[in-house]
Amino acid sequence: MSYSTLVKASTQNPGFDQKEVVSNNKSYWITTFGCQMNKADSERMAGILESMGYVNAKTELEADLVLYNTCTIRDNAEQKVYSYLGRQAIRKRNLPSLKLIVAGCVAQQEGAALLRRVPEIDLVMGPQHANRLETLLGQVENGQQVLATDELEIIEDVTTPRRNSSICAWVNIIYGCNERCTYCVVPSVRGKEQSREPEAIKNEIENLANQGYKEITLLGQNIDAYGRDFKSISGKTNSKFDLKDLLIYIHDIKGIERIRFATSHPRYFTNDLIKTCSILPKVCEHFHIPFQSGDNNILKNMARGYTIEKYSQIIENIRNIMPNASITADAIVAFPGETDDQFINTLNIIKKLEFDLVNTAAYSPRPNTPAADWPNQIPENIKIDRLKELNSLVEKTAIKRNLRYKNNIEEVLVESINPKNKMQLMGRTRTNRLTFFSIDDCKNYDIKPGDLVKVLIQEIRPFSLTGIIT
Ligand code: SAH
Ligand code: SF4
Ligand code: F3S
Repeated sequence: MSYSTLVKASTQNPGFDQKEVVSNNKSYWITTFGCQMNKADSERMAGILESMGYVNAKTELEADLVLYNTCTIRDNAEQKVYSYLGRQAIRKRNLPSLKLIVAGCVAQQEGAALLRRVPEIDLVMGPQHANRLETLLGQVENGQQVLATDELEIIEDVTTPRRNSSICAWVNIIYGCNERCTYCVVPSVRGKEQSREPEAIKNEIENLANQGYKEITLLGQNIDAYGRDFKSISGKTNSKFDLKDLLIYIHDIKGIERIRFATSHPRYFTNDLIKTCSILPKVCEHFHIPFQSGDNNILKNMARGYTIEKYSQIIENIRNIMPNASITADAIVAFPGETDDQFINTLNIIKKLEFDLVNTAAYSPRPNTPAADWPNQIPENIKIDRLKELNSLVEKTAIKRNLRYKNNIEEVLVESINPKNKMQLMGRTRTNRLTFFSIDDCKNYDIKPGDLVKVLIQEIRPFSLTGIIT
């Protein structure tokens, strides 16, 4: 596919290219909220629907089957779903054949309550059931209203996902999370850690390479936990095979040019992992390691299992071994009891460590999490003020970090047309910086998605770069 054919791709359905509905098949629409795990699950569920003969609908309001893959990490994420559902519930009253499905983390959290609140829903299915969509839909076809939220051993992927990109792919390597961060809903909605077998992962990546994929991102909520649930021959959970071994094991798959992974946990992140990344040429120089707070007492109350000194040491080690690596993180402000000084400690750690990017959020109390019941909640106005202050610092720091790209030549993996400016192509640097460059400049080159190109960076913004192809 050349860049000119790409221009025609529509981006109406976030996450999926549109296909003309040419047959009499039933059509589906998936809206995905939340993190990369949910996006990966949606791609697998879309793959299942297409294998059943469904085709992508032109618009949400025309679809015969609507699936919301939901997120509940913060209250506003959860509330969004209810407004979307309201619209479809009204539609279903006039169109009883419409299938309405709620998947993902709100489905797991709310379960039967969701069916009571919106009785028009046909199927409520937790994240562990994503690969069972066909079976569950079969029950719906038989006239049942189905609730699938029981804990499961995740079935090894049996279908071919309908992937959003044809260049970059996500590959789950570990599901669930065994941590108990006191603010976080993930362990209760995603279940216990379940690592996939290395052979199954390698197999999936080899298939991706055969289909022309160039970049893979290994996914896990706590990717450093990979392998620790494997049973040794004696039957004890005492695995020796971990993330760095997996990186080595999959590294040489022909066709794959770049390997990434996320999310790292400071409690388990090792120097050996940094060393392994530094010697494996396909592993990109980018680490996403959330610190959550710059204050040790808050970290303790969050039950994160590290101090800010230990975290800073990890960053120093990365910069010693891989000086060009970009480092991104997540941070929460206004956790229960956070004082002004404790908040300032978070600002200070960002100033000190100079992150490439920090995803920020104000603390949101979540069901079934300890911190939600603590009496020392922070008032809304303080949450808003702290978040604003943090965001403005993050932006300034990002610009400062991006200065190092100016007038540099960076390797960019071409992904697609820039949906906001059809005259530009876009891709990412090895350090995961979004980079745009003009199509006009490519006219003399035969450039297509999946190519690695050299871009001279001319313009920098907090979250992206612009340059010309060299
Ligand atoms: N597994 C990752 C994070 C997954 S959730 C880790 O351990 O870091 C993604 C991000 O959402 C978290 O890093 C955190 O910054 C944010 N988050 C999670 N729960 C939250 C809550 N209750 N309120 C606000 N932000 C939250
Ligand atoms: Fe949530 Fe903590 Fe698990 Fe991350 S490590 S998913 S923040 S419980
Ligand atoms: Fe949201 Fe579930 Fe991911 S709560 S952030 S979609 S694990």
